Amino acid sequence: MIDAAGKLIAKADRIVAFSGAGLSAESGIPTFRDSHAVSGALWTKYDPMTLASPEGFAADPQAVIAWYNWRRRTIAAAQPNPAHQALAAASRNSGLVNVTQNVDDLLHRAGAQHVIQLHGSIAVDRCHGQCGHYEAIDLANPPDLRPCVRCGEPMRPGVVWFGESLPADAWTAAERACSQCDVLLVVGTSAAVYPAAGLINYAKSHGSRIIIVNTQPSEASRLADFELIGPAGEIVPQLFDR
Ligand code: APR
Repeated sequence: MIDAAGKLIAKADRIVAFSGAGLSAESGIPTFRDSHAVSGALWTKYDPMTLASPEGFAADPQAVIAWYNWRRRTIAAAQPNPAHQALAAASRNSGLVNVTQNVDDLLHRAGAQHVIQLHGSIAVDRCHGQCGHYEAIDLANPPDLRPCVRCGEPMRPGVVWFGESLPADAWTAAERACSQCDVLLVVGTSAAVYPAAGLINYAKSHGSRIIIVNTQPSEASRLADFELIGPAGEIVPQLFDR
């Protein structure tokens, strides 16, 4: 199956890689819902509405920032894995577009081009008010809760929280890429969170072949032309190894 899927990728003109937390799992970054996760998936240990929603931030901003800073230090200590490396090389060599739900910077650190982050980036802070102020932050030494230098509202991680809209430019670019690709390579996502997960069926309805890499079946399994069960770090490099 890996060989047949690899041949499909080798023949394709336009490839989009749609990824989720499973892409970074082998780098030591916890996933959210993976029932197989050794150290436990985040949402089995923490309440997403308390830590990843505007309401949770309003109720206890210190706790939210402390939790994101713990995730930031974990990401700073992590390294891109062979799946990140393979997707980055394919983006440089054949224009593969990475559409990711991940807020970490591991694709960027692997040298990927054309990375569309649908759920924002944990490597920046933005003003929680309306002034639009953004600041890049040091993942290894993230700042504590502080006011925006422009308007005084609190700064918060530049990620999309539950109940918030996705960045319009990223969504438009992702839709365009998924409507034009020959192959959509779905890597390490439960495909449970919308609107992002809707891109898989959207690409299929525009004629794209669907290749899924996951350590277990997911909500997208029914859409797959090829479902490759196993770790992304082992399977993804083989798909491009032609
Ligand atoms: N290789 C491939 N797949 C893996 C690996 C691995 N090494 N490890 C875990 N997986 C798979 C799991 O089986 C699971 O299906 O990755 C998937 C991770 O799913 P989730 O934890 O639900 O993460 P994701 O799909 O990215 O979540 C979507 O939900 O919480 C929000 O905003 C957050 O972007 C996130 C969104």
